[in-house]
Amino acid sequence: MDFTLFTAAIVFLTSGLCVGQSVLPPGPLTGAIGGRVKFTTTLSPPAKPFVSVSWTFNRVNIITSTTVNITNADHKDRISLDRTTGSLELWNLGLRDQGEYRVSIIPDGALELQGATTLDVYVLLSAATITSPTATLIAGISSTTLTCEAAGNISSIQWIKDGLPLCPSNNITFSVDNRTVHLSPVQHIDNGEYDCLVSNPVSNQTASHNLTVNFGPQNISIDGPLAASTGYRVSLSCSADSIPPATFTWMFNRTETGVNNTLYIIERMEALHIGNYTCTATNNITGLKDSVVHKLRASSAAPIWSFALMVTSVLAVGLLQL
Ligand SMILES: *[C@@H]1O[C@H](CO)[C@@H](O)[C@H](O)[C@H]1NC(C)=O
Ligand SMILES: *[C@@H]1O[C@H](CO)[C@@H](O)[C@H](O)[C@H]1NC(C)=O
Ligand SMILES: *[C@@H]1O[C@H](CO)[C@@H](O)[C@H](O)[C@H]1NC(C)=O
Ligand SMILES: *[C@@H]1O[C@H](CO)[C@@H](O)[C@H](O)[C@H]1NC(C)=O
Ligand SMILES: *[C@@H]1O[C@H](CO)[C@@H](O)[C@H](O)[C@H]1NC(C)=O
Ligand SMILES: *[C@@H]1O[C@H](CO)[C@@H](O)[C@H](O)[C@H]1NC(C)=O
Ligand SMILES: *[C@@H]1O[C@H](CO)[C@@H](O)[C@H](O)[C@H]1NC(C)=O
Ligand SMILES: *[C@@H]1O[C@H](CO)[C@@H](O)[C@H](O)[C@H]1NC(C)=O
Ligand SMILES: *[C@@H]1O[C@H](CO)[C@@H](O)[C@H](O)[C@H]1NC(C)=O
Ligand SMILES: *[C@@H]1O[C@H](CO)[C@@H](O)[C@H](O)[C@H]1NC(C)=O
Ligand SMILES: *[C@@H]1O[C@H](CO)[C@@H](O)[C@H](O)[C@H]1NC(C)=O
Repeated sequence: MDFTLFTAAIVFLTSGLCVGQSVLPPGPLTGAIGGRVKFTTTLSPPAKPFVSVSWTFNRVNIITSTTVNITNADHKDRISLDRTTGSLELWNLGLRDQGEYRVSIIPDGALELQGATTLDVYVLLSAATITSPTATLIAGISSTTLTCEAAGNISSIQWIKDGLPLCPSNNITFSVDNRTVHLSPVQHIDNGEYDCLVSNPVSNQTASHNLTVNFGPQNISIDGPLAASTGYRVSLSCSADSIPPATFTWMFNRTETGVNNTLYIIERMEALHIGNYTCTATNNITGLKDSVVHKLRASSAAPIWSFALMVTSVLAVGLLQL
């Protein structure tokens, strides 16, 4: 070969590679331990078979296929070469297969074609868990940390609370790699189910954790009539937002009634029942209490049943007249 032609060939090859004429996608390709991967070239089967197809791994021969095949011992039983496109399939992947793969193809009557790419091998994710200190948490006072852990190569971690992505805020901060979430201080809205989704290109895993933040009582209220007629059953119902659920006590006109239920029932309304009903909610973990007063008066309106009786008698009279 004359010198200028030789130089021209070098320039052509080099520039060819520089402008991305690689016959392999740049990658990296990903595979799972024990799994398989296919290095697919961009070539279509030519009219005349390639003179030679040669693959290297980290610059060491895997297979060189001309009229004979020279195969590396470590790859012998776990590769398959497609002689028509130059594509190579590799299975039974291990971490030792991570690295650079190059292919060199000499077509019949044309210049050499080359390609290079890298392979990343991932350990499948397993045993994802969320850990958190077991301390009892009180809203506005305590802080806690949720830590997500898993076996295998973790590429990314996402946190989900009650089915929605968990967002950072003044009181919720994530570590750079999302492995930990710090809640400081915890609040009543932090109660709920936390999921961490760990993933890598070949697998993903989810772990779940229920967080309990003790709070309250808050928003205490009594539900019941403001006025009642003599003889009627009256039911007053006390409620409060609280974790754990609050316990309730009832006072009538500043005297303990001994009722410690959400419900205070007056079986038959009488004059002596008129007065102030105070419900006190207590949370035995936060140690907080809250009270609300409900004023019950006598009803001046006619009882509903007398109105109903009137209507029926009017109807009855009407029917008799027909
Ligand atoms: C070399 O390997 C290719 C691809 O597996 C196969 O098609 C071909 O027959 C082999 N050649 C020889 C000489 O064994
Ligand atoms: C996966 O983790 C192993 C070590 O356990 C490491 O050797 C390998 O490089 C990691 N794979 C990737 C793609 O980071
Ligand atoms: C951390 O989580 C955020 C929001 O879920 C996500 O956008 C980001 O990619 C994650 N970062 C890592 C390193 O996993
Ligand atoms: C953070 O916690 C403080 C104290 O409990 C509270 O006043 C504030 O509203 C919280 N901030 C956010 C963004 O929830
Ligand atoms: C998790 O992996 C499963 C297959 O195991 C896949 O169907 C699913 O789309 C993956 N989810 C995410 C969020 O990557
Ligand atoms: C969390 O609580 C819900 C019900 O409130 C329950 O269905 C779920 O199994 C719990 N999850 C865990 C991890 O304990
Ligand atoms: C108390 O009531 C307010 C208004 O309805 C609500 O925004 C708040 O979340 C309630 N507090 C609790 C602890 O549920
Ligand atoms: C009942 O409550 C009213 C205010 O709502 C108060 O003026 C009155 O003194 C209370 N009566 C008793 C016996 O506590
Ligand atoms: C609450 O009620 C239970 C039975 O319902 C009773 O044994 C207990 O003594 C009551 N507690 C108070 C403080 O009244
Ligand atoms: C309760 O207090 C009201 C005034 O708030 C009073 O009218 C009523 O007589 C009192 N009832 C009893 C039984 O002390
Ligand atoms: C606190 O109250 C809850 C529910 O009201 C009850 O289950 C729990 O046993 C109580 N704990 C203590 C220490 O009294």
